[in-house]
Amino acid sequence: MERERTLFLVKPDAVQRGLAGEIIKRLESRGLKLVGLKLMQVTRPIAEKHYAEHKGKPFFEGLVQFITSAPVVAAVLEGTNAIEIVRATNGLTNPLKAAPGTIRADFGLEMGRNLVHASDSPTSAAREIKIFFKPSELVDWTRDSDRWIYE
Ligand code: RTP
Ligand code: MG
Repeated sequence: MERERTLFLVKPDAVQRGLAGEIIKRLESRGLKLVGLKLMQVTRPIAEKHYAEHKGKPFFEGLVQFITSAPVVAAVLEGTNAIEIVRATNGLTNPLKAAPGTIRADFGLEMGRNLVHASDSPTSAAREIKIFFKPSELVDWTRDSDRWIYE
């Protein structure tokens, strides 16, 4: 059983639509533990670093424009297989293809307004957490409900 951490973003579209609380609630309800959480304005350097793997693709400039267009809520979530669990909760990249019950299907219509981001591997999670959070912003805390969530 792998206890992991992942970077999660409520993107500008979801923050503007007042969905940040509702979206984070789904992840908390699932049993994931918040170890970092903040509202922030993403700058162009942060956006380009975060989306470095997409540099040169046709949608890169639009993606950077979008993610810097309004605040995001950034979070670090911890739990068993957190990386895959959060990706599955988000749903497929294109809301059209995302399964009902996922965040992207339940709140979105288009790929460029798909509400959320989550790290896609342990390597990306480690890299992305460092981009968005200083070590001092991550809180190590004991959650009393852990024994009812972890076997
Ligand atoms: P994310 O990084 O946001 O969690 O989403 P993802 O892994 O499912 O998708 P990724 O391939 O990493 O793409 C990052 C974001 O870029 C936008 N995108 N647009 N027009 C396009 O072909 C296209 N492809 C990707 C999406 O907003 C996606 O979330
Ligand atoms: Mg991605």
